[in-house]
Amino acid sequence: MGKKNKPTKSEWAEVRGSDVHGRGMFATKDIPESTEIIEYLGERIDKDESNRRGHALLDESKVTGGAQVYLFTLDEEWDLDGNFEWNTARLVNHSCEPNCEAQIDEELKIWLVALREISEDEELTFNYGFDLEDYSKHPCRCGSGKCVGFIVGEEYWPKLRKKLKKKRAKAEKKEAKERKRLSALKDER
Ligand SMILES: C[S@@+](CC[C@H](N)C(=O)[O-])C[C@H]1O[C@@H](n2cnc3c(N)ncnc32)[C@H](O)[C@@H]1O
Ligand SMILES: [Zn+2]
Repeated sequence: MGKKNKPTKSEWAEVRGSDVHGRGMFATKDIPESTEIIEYLGERIDKDESNRRGHALLDESKVTGGAQVYLFTLDEEWDLDGNFEWNTARLVNHSCEPNCEAQIDEELKIWLVALREISEDEELTFNYGFDLEDYSKHPCRCGSGKCVGFIVGEEYWPKLRKKLKKKRAKAEKKEAKERKRLSALKDER
């Protein structure tokens, strides 16, 4: 598939500006639970190629401060790179309390499926399922009450919460030390 392909469309959703980030996809009508809303298209690549592209994206993020990640695991052998303009589903944003899920069917096709009934005008979201590595590069602005602050898969939430708690405690300790130092300086004068 080349760059000239037309962007994919869904009878259920369209692209609009998002409060979460940039552009997102929004329901154009009420969507029943379990609906296959749009296929997540891309190029099927083997793990070596996927690692190569993943690392290239990471290098790019070091220069630009952030790279978009569109790589999906299909199975032990194959991944899918969805970084193509015609793959409209790539615009679906992440949420810690998503209303959709990416499901892989027997043909290794990825579908964005409604986890519950979605109302017209709701933004579509799914959990990107990123791992913990480099979590700090992916702050989350999903706005959900369940937001853990960073874009990571739910299975990593307990570890992430522990990490963040430790980080906070360390920062508080540092602040207390600084306060003590400043107050000692004041006393000296
Ligand atoms: C696959 S793109 C999604 C489309 C994106 N909104 C756009 O306009 O290009 C993924 C990128 O969108 C941003 N993004 C998606 N969900 C987000 C969220 N919940 N909080 C903050 N940024 C998010 C991040 O920069 C992420 O790397
Ligand atoms: Zn969130």
